[in-house]
Order: sequence, then C-alpha cells, then structure tokens
Amino acid sequence: MAQHDNGPPRRFKIAPSLLSADFAHIAEQIALVERAGADYLHLDIMDGRFVPNITWGPKIISDLRKLTKLPFDTHLMIVEPERYVADFAKAGANIITIHWEAAVHAHRLVQQIKECGARAGLSLNPATPLNVLHEILPYIDLLLVMSVNPGFGGQSYIPTSTQKIRTARELIDSAKVDVELEVDGGIRLDNVAEVVGAGADVVVMGAGIFGTPQPAETIARVRTACTP
Ligand code: DX5
Ligand code: ZN
Repeated sequence: MAQHDNGPPRRFKIAPSLLSADFAHIAEQIALVERAGADYLHLDIMDGRFVPNITWGPKIISDLRKLTKLPFDTHLMIVEPERYVADFAKAGANIITIHWEAAVHAHRLVQQIKECGARAGLSLNPATPLNVLHEILPYIDLLLVMSVNPGFGGQSYIPTSTQKIRTARELIDSAKVDVELEVDGGIRLDNVAEVVGAGADVVVMGAGIFGTPQPAETIARVRTACTP
C-alpha cells in the first residue's frame, strides 16, 4: 500500500515499459517482470511523425501476446490513431491510450476503443493543461500524464509533473469517476515515491527497470520505496 499525500493508502500498479527491454531476449525479459509482480506491460507505439522515433506495430503485439497473461497497456504515440485502434485491439491490447494532441475527435475515438473491447486511455503531453479534460473525463478509463516529452526512453523526469499529478488526482477524485491515473517518463527508484505520493495509480518505468542490473529486484525495491 502506498500513502498518497492527499488520501488514504491504496495499491499502485507497476507497468514496465518494453521500450528499454532487450528485444533479442524479449521472452525472458517479459517472464522476468511478470514473475517479479509487474501489473501491466507498457507498450510504446511510435510512428516517426507524432514523435521523432519509430517502434513497432500490431504484428509484434500479437506475437508478444502469446508470451504472457499480463494486461497490455498500449500507448499510441501516432498521428491519426483512429486508423489503427481496431488492429491493436485485435492484436491483444487491453488498454489503448491515445494522445489528446493527436486526436481530432477524441470523444469518438474513445467510443471506438471501447467498442473494440479495450479500455480507453487518454494521454496529455507535458505542455498540455489538465483543463482539456473537462468534457472527456467521464468517458475515459485511464488518464496518462506524461512526465517527459514522448519519444524516447531514459529521459529525465520534468519536476513540475508532480504538481500536475496532484491536481489530476484531485480532479478524478472530486469528479468521482472510475479513471486510473498513470504517469509515464523518467520514473526511477529515487523518485517513484514522489510520483505515487502525488496520487499516481500506475507508474510506467522503462530505463528505471530494464536499465538496472537486476530488474526483478528493482521492482521489489519500488514496492518498498512506496510503502510508508
Ligand atoms: C516515452 C514513452 C515511455 C518510455 C518511458 O515516450 O512513452 O513509456 O518508455 O521510459 P523511461 O521510464 O525510461 O523514461
Ligand atoms: Zn509510454
């Protein structure tokens, strides 16, 4: 259990990001974090247009799907996400998160994701204010607050994100909506307690897990670091 600054203790989830994993040994890397108690697998989809980097598409997701029962938390950093939502759902994505900045019709897209049988996430870049959520909050299942500019693993946490997480937590709690609050970017053993303390339900960690010598031990230490 983690103690939030502004509420009762609650369990938080750890979502290792495969962006920093070794794809030459991907089956072992997934088994390792699954055994260590990861809650979600975070899968970063980048198209070289919305972000200046390219990763992988639905084929890889459906191949990975055979390796684990962990929920796939799929983060689409792509333009025109409406063109690919069904393909990612079919490939086995359980949560499909789109970027507010890439969605012309975010409300329609959220329905489209749900109709495909996945949970709908909405992500905000660091410079995007929380007030864009006003109309859409009741419709989404997950809010992803980016604590780095999306595109690459291993970047530094933007310090003002902590206040944004706190405000997002208050927004979700006061609206009494069933929305998970996830934070992504620059989270490591030395700052994860700050992120969870500010109210995150889910922490995404790429380099902070796969870039450490003992990823399984790091996951255990993350749990300890966030336990009062
Ligand atoms: C960045 C991605 C993140 C990335 C985080 O654009 O969305 O999920 O993997 O990596 P770290 O934890 O290394 O900052
Ligand atoms: Zn991500």
